[in-house]
This record gives sequence, C-alpha cells and structure tokens, in this order.
Amino acid sequence: MATYKRLPVTFARGEGVWLWDTDGKRYLDALSGIAVCGLGHAHPAIRDAICEQAGLIIHTSNIYGIAEQERLGAMLTKAAGMDRVFFSNSGAEANEAAIKLARLHAHRRGIANPAILVAEGSFHGRTLATLSATGNRKVQAGFEPLVQGFVRVPYNDVEAIEISAGNRPNIVAILVEPIQGEGGINIPADDYLPRLRALCDREGWLLMLDEIQTGMGRTGKLFAHQHSGAQPDVMTLAKGLGNGVPIGACLARGAAADVLTPGTHGSTFGGNPLACRVARTVLETISSQGLVANAAEQGDFLLGAFRDALQGTKGVVEIRGRGLIIGIELDRPCTDLVGQALDAGLLINVTAERVIRLLPPLILERPQAQQLVDSLTALIQGFLGNA
Ligand SMILES: Cc1ncc(COP(=O)(O)O)c(C=O)c1O
Repeated sequence: MATYKRLPVTFARGEGVWLWDTDGKRYLDALSGIAVCGLGHAHPAIRDAICEQAGLIIHTSNIYGIAEQERLGAMLTKAAGMDRVFFSNSGAEANEAAIKLARLHAHRRGIANPAILVAEGSFHGRTLATLSATGNRKVQAGFEPLVQGFVRVPYNDVEAIEISAGNRPNIVAILVEPIQGEGGINIPADDYLPRLRALCDREGWLLMLDEIQTGMGRTGKLFAHQHSGAQPDVMTLAKGLGNGVPIGACLARGAAADVLTPGTHGSTFGGNPLACRVARTVLETISSQGLVANAAEQGDFLLGAFRDALQGTKGVVEIRGRGLIIGIELDRPCTDLVGQALDAGLLINVTAERVIRLLPPLILERPQAQQLVDSLTALIQGFLGNA
C-alpha cells in the first residue's frame, strides 16, 4: 500500500557507515535507518549471530522456555537497573505493552478509568493506542475515534502537569521521551526527568520512558535517562536493540514488573531465539567496542564542528543534540534538503518540517564525522543562500 513517500533510491548493500545503491553509488549513512543500525551495516558480529542462530533454532513459541530470551532478558534488565522485561517486535508494540501495564496496574488499585499523561510533540507509534498517545494531529487525523485515557500536557513543563493533574484523580502514569525525536530533537531541561520522578513518587504514578529512539547508546549513555539519574518504572526500547532485526522491549521495575501475568499479554514472535540472539550480540558489541563512549565523543565533535561551521549563518535557528542524536533547526521548511543530500551521497532526514535530523551509526569515526560536517554545511549554506 502507498503508506510511504519514498525517495528515488534503492540500496543494494552496506558496510559500516556506508551504503551503495543499485547503480553502485556510495552514500554516507547519517540516519542509520532512523536510529536502528547503531552498529552500521553488515556488521560481522551480527551476520555471524544470525547465521549461527538460524542453524540452531529460529522460533519455537512462548509456550516453551527460550534460553536466548532469558539470556537477553538478564543482560538487559541488569544494564537498565530494571526487574523484568516483555519482548515485542516493534516500538509501537513495546509502548502498547507499557500502556496496558499502566492500565492493569490502575485497575488492580481500584481506579476504573485510568489516564496517562502524554506530551505535546511526542511520537509513540502508529497503532491505535500509540497514535492516540502521540502528540501530533497529523498522525491521528482520520483514525478517530481515538483511544481514550490520555491527557495531553506541554513537553518540558512540570508546572503544567501539576495544574493539569490537580483535578484528575485518575492519572496513573506519565509517558514521555527523554528527548523528543520525531518532534524535532527537543531536549528538556536537565532537571525535567528528576522532577517528573519526584512527582511520580509523590502521586504514586508510574514514570514510563519511551527510549525507542534514544536508547541503546544513541545519546552517549546506554539509556538517555541515565544522563539525569532519574530511574523510570517502565522503559520501552526497539530500533537500535536489534540493529535491523525486529525486536522491541518493555522493561519494568518494582511493583510495575509484576503487573503483567500469564494471559494478560503476549506475542507470537516476541522474544524469539533469533531476535534475542541478535539483540544480545548488539548489547555485547556496544559494550566490547566502547560504542557508548564513541557516541558521546563523536557527538561532541559534531555539535562543536557544526556550530563553528554554521556560526553566523542566517537562517540557522539552533544546533542541538546529545551524543549521536543531533538536530539542526532552520527558520524555514527544509525537506528539500533531503533530496539534495541524497544527490550529494549523504543520507539525512528532516523532522518537524524545519529540523535536520542526524542519527549516524554509533561506530562513526572522526574522518567520517568530518565528512558529514563538510558536506552538510555546504548543502545548508547553499539551501539558505538560494532559498
Ligand atoms: C520515540 C518513538 N517511539 C515509538 C516509535 C515507534 O516504533 P516502531 O516504528 O518500531 O513501531 C518510534 C519510531 O520512530 C519512536 O521514535
């Protein structure tokens, strides 16, 4: 179906940060399939894990024990400081699990009509519940009636939550992204998550963080909330967890970890041996190759270099980011830049109409980062000069 407006290019193969199209032209991938291929393309460890696991067992069903799922679950919960995990196949499904968890938790505590606080400008997925949670009318339009039980508040505004929740005794959880990705690389104040944590503790709400875009090393910590010290009750992951093999995860801690019990939720493919083996390899490789530190280092370099190169350029509103999630906001719509970059052999993306979004692989090296700065700066200057 015509669900995607596709760019006029098809890729035949990749290696590291590079992709080649069907005509043999090479591109620097500064998008990683939208924060998915953190280890880059055709990583030997991922290739070997897939091949080896395919020769052993790919799928059995969650009605049996799954050793690879247990291994990954143990690694992931330990790394995240969480107690339990449910495995899904995508980000939207991971968030669906979180939403169901929050509702069941509320019903067990006698709240018949629970509501979850969600933010303006957020993106949580395309299923009915997750598009209802999403703070973007374009994503929702035409799919009414929306799923009820979400209360919208401005992002990065704790006072607004206090006011909005004041007369609503049925609030049970807050669901937010630590940095809004689709919404335009919006980075909240340093004390935003700690203040949300304190508010949740005071009110008995669950703090649920959507780390689907920000998790798995992207921001220069394994999980973005680790910059703040605020620990969530529930956290969702997907994208970079499988480096391209579909897998999502909903992790929970404390009382929240015991909410979903047999029969309350499930998935045929979720947590199958192949996806879990690959995700375990992703975690091991991120750790053994020091990729979290590399994301922080290359991200600092990119931010500094873009700020230097674009200093004083009229039309550049702000350059912001953390690790390898970077936004360059212009004063005008700039989707045309995506095609211009493609012609120049560079893969980028524009979100929220005016924000150039960069999500390069975590394996990015300095010369490649420099090339990204040089070619994108020239494109931006050309675009602003000619626009
Ligand atoms: C923050 C966030 N949440 C959820 C999703 C949905 O994930 P998926 O497309 O795997 O369903 C995305 C995807 O862009 C995302 O960025």
